Amino acid sequence: MSSSPSTIYLVTGSNRGIGFSLVSHILASHPDAFVYAAARDPPKATALEELSNKYPGRISIVRYVAADAAGNADLAKVIKTKHGRVDTVVANAAIVRVSNTVLEATASDLEEQFTVNVVGPVLLFQALHALLKASASPRFVPISTAGASLGSPPITLPINIAVYGASKAALNYVTRKIHFENEWLIAFPLAPGAVATEQFQDAVAQDKAGIFHRFLEQAPPRAPDEAATLLVDLIDKATRETSGGAFIDVDGSRLPW
Ligand SMILES: NC(=O)c1ccc[n+]([C@@H]2O[C@H](COP(=O)([O-])OP(=O)(O)OC[C@H]3O[C@@H](n4cnc5c(N)ncnc54)[C@H](OP(=O)(O)O)[C@@H]3O)[C@@H](O)[C@H]2O)c1
Repeated sequence: MSSSPSTIYLVTGSNRGIGFSLVSHILASHPDAFVYAAARDPPKATALEELSNKYPGRISIVRYVAADAAGNADLAKVIKTKHGRVDTVVANAAIVRVSNTVLEATASDLEEQFTVNVVGPVLLFQALHALLKASASPRFVPISTAGASLGSPPITLPINIAVYGASKAALNYVTRKIHFENEWLIAFPLAPGAVATEQFQDAVAQDKAGIFHRFLEQAPPRAPDEAATLLVDLIDKATRETSGGAFIDVDGSRLPW
């Protein structure tokens, strides 16, 4: 086992978008940290490879495919051998399809988005449980969305994100449940706000009613690097008392479930 960094992070879905910016920001701002940057297809993760050259010995590009239990077990084995623990897991990988009302949703829509957005983080938590338990300050933070809130305005708008929203609401539930089931852990779903990533651009392009366009005119999305700075700060500062089991927004406030 190599010498121990101050904090060992694992970020899924990290070869682009918010995940990439999280990894990049952690490496730049936490000189003692080590990051497991998880990507679906590491050989194609060229941007991460560049980070790996920039920060030699501080980043390992690992494979994470949502809901692949055997792959998760391999990933856990790699971390166990190298560090014996993981401190902060950011379950960021997700997909969004802006396509259907509930009436139109197909079984494959439901299966695909629930598999990546719910089954993925749950199996990841299971695989990393022992490694989190070995940490002195363990955190499990799935990235959610304010659009999954049952009690705030987005649900009333005619944006066809019913399946995505439902998958993230389920993710919120299991994360809050993880909080109650594991009194040694800091776990909470974190909403990043609107962030100018491919996923966001896709969502805007798929929104036939133009709701996102109108929303954007009032509140432009943050750049991924700006969002990452805010999110890492919230994740690092979180305690079980302040954030555990709560639905936290990018500005640090609590969102209604
Ligand atoms: N952007 C926003 O405005 C916004 C708003 C609210 C919430 N969020 C949430 O923020 C997180 C990041 O979003 P983003 O905008 O950065 O999205 P993104 O640019 O689309 O990136 C998504 C990441 O997830 C990975 N991924 C997708 N399917 C996967 C699978 N089956 N297995 C493993 N990895 C998979 C992608 O890998 P590949 O590169 O291999 O496809 C990619 O790295 C998500 O949880 C999203 O729901 C984003």
